[in-house]
Amino acid sequence: MNQLLSIEELSAKDLERLLDSAEYLKRQRGRDGQTLAGQTWALIFTKSSTRTRVSFEVGIRELGGFPMFLSGNDIQLGRGEPIKDTARVLGRMVHGAIIRTFAQQDVVDFAEFSGIPTINALTDDEHPCQILADLLTIREKLGTWEGKKVAFIGDGFSNMTISWMWAAKRLGFELAVASPVSCQPPADFLAKLDAANVTITTDPAAAAKGADVVNTDVWLSMGQEGQKEKELEFAGFQVNSELLAHAAPGHIVLHCLPAYRGKEISEEVLELHAGTIFQQAENRLHAQKAVLVAIARKS
Ligand code: CP
Ligand code: NVA
Repeated sequence: MNQLLSIEELSAKDLERLLDSAEYLKRQRGRDGQTLAGQTWALIFTKSSTRTRVSFEVGIRELGGFPMFLSGNDIQLGRGEPIKDTARVLGRMVHGAIIRTFAQQDVVDFAEFSGIPTINALTDDEHPCQILADLLTIREKLGTWEGKKVAFIGDGFSNMTISWMWAAKRLGFELAVASPVSCQPPADFLAKLDAANVTITTDPAAAAKGADVVNTDVWLSMGQEGQKEKELEFAGFQVNSELLAHAAPGHIVLHCLPAYRGKEISEEVLELHAGTIFQQAENRLHAQKAVLVAIARKS
């Protein structure tokens, strides 16, 4: 592969190969080759990050490369320099770019104009790196996603749910998304997705019923802070012990983090499932190293 802009662009085989590689890299940690020796990778972030930034910086170093963090506010991009000009400059200097921003089109344009491998580190439309870590966690905890039911409780048309819906489409597991009507995926998206295994409901208990994986995310994504009216619509959509009573025996709970306790997840549930949730966070490192290796080897 030579880029990772979305889950949509990946096949089931791509996903499985990346996860096999991530598992291998996790086992081999500390014995990495110098796959990125001599390479500088730019991290261009115009939104906040803890996990994504740290896991990429550590991962690039572990593979022998040099990460260069560029806050969108510190480079001329923040003063209005077009993404295509930024891309054409960086494309002549660094070996790859990892971008966290708002518009998916900016990541697409960066990839096109820079000509260097580009990785989407979260846009408003997709969070592919997170989904790789989530799938890795499901494999580790449940063995497989085949025959499993995944519930997503929360914003039905955020970067996380969009990436999850594409993952379900590609891999074929059952995905039930419970979301207030105003946050559900629009008909044109669902027509494009065309996945009978993805269902949308306004009933969190129905989505959680028999679920092997119960997944949630913040109600207000980055850039939506202050949308108090939107937040009010999520009353009743909290992942708490009452909701989990509907889930399958042995279910796991996922949260991409950061978590807002008392909103999308209760304190009790987060702490009860912290072992899985922080394993999921750690898996960002291994999954992204797999992406970097696949890009470096063009495999
Ligand atoms: N889950 C995730 O992407 O976390 P950060 O925003 O901290 O990078
Ligand atoms: N949907 C969240 C994900 C954070 C990792 C956001 O975009 O803020």
